[in-house]
Amino acid sequence: MVFDIISAVPDLLQSPFQHSILKRAVDKQLLEINIIELRKYGLGPHNQIDDYQYGGGAGMVMMVEPLDKCISELKAAHKYDEVIFVTPDGKTFNQSKANELSLKNRIMIILGHYKGIDQRIRDMHVTLELSIGDYVLSGGELPAAVIVDSISRLIPGVLNDGTSALTDSHQDNLLAPPVYTRPADYNGRQVPEVLLSGHDKKIEEWREEQAVQKTEALRPDLLED
Ligand code: ADE
Repeated sequence: MVFDIISAVPDLLQSPFQHSILKRAVDKQLLEINIIELRKYGLGPHNQIDDYQYGGGAGMVMMVEPLDKCISELKAAHKYDEVIFVTPDGKTFNQSKANELSLKNRIMIILGHYKGIDQRIRDMHVTLELSIGDYVLSGGELPAAVIVDSISRLIPGVLNDGTSALTDSHQDNLLAPPVYTRPADYNGRQVPEVLLSGHDKKIEEWREEQAVQKTEALRPDLLED
């Protein structure tokens, strides 16, 4: 799966994809992440990419022309299943959206900064607008890293144990049950007996029960869906 990410601050995106699971996925060629520097398409001697907004008001707006040139060049070279703009006014990203997007081949992600991007880019190119929650961040880089990470771990072969993603919180609208590792007794705090029993069916039932209890206590809204 390929992600082409257009960013005004590409340095912010370097580290998240260079470690751990995502790095291994890139090394195994299950995942390709291309970061395109928007400023290369900027206008004039200073490679301008933002300007004052029409109608007045605080905050700069990312200009239509650099983004349009960049997006059009990418579209001419590749076929995209989705062109995503990450924005606090998008649809809230969740696990079911991650599952759906993990089946795609190539996705473009446009990252905003300042007050936003010229509406005409959204009208001309964007097929999906996603927010990672009801709060505002300084730019789209961190949301993009979140979205790409959650999608990428669902691509077959990315996680060593293919069943692992299926037992994540939210996969079945339940929070994940508690997990433990050695030692079985830490200063008198014991790992639940059942997990030491070796009885697979009982362990599965216990996990299910814990997941339901935890979800009822912390996120009852998930059970209503
Ligand atoms: N850009 C700024 N804030 C954001 C958010 N919450 N989700 C997606 N993109 C954003």
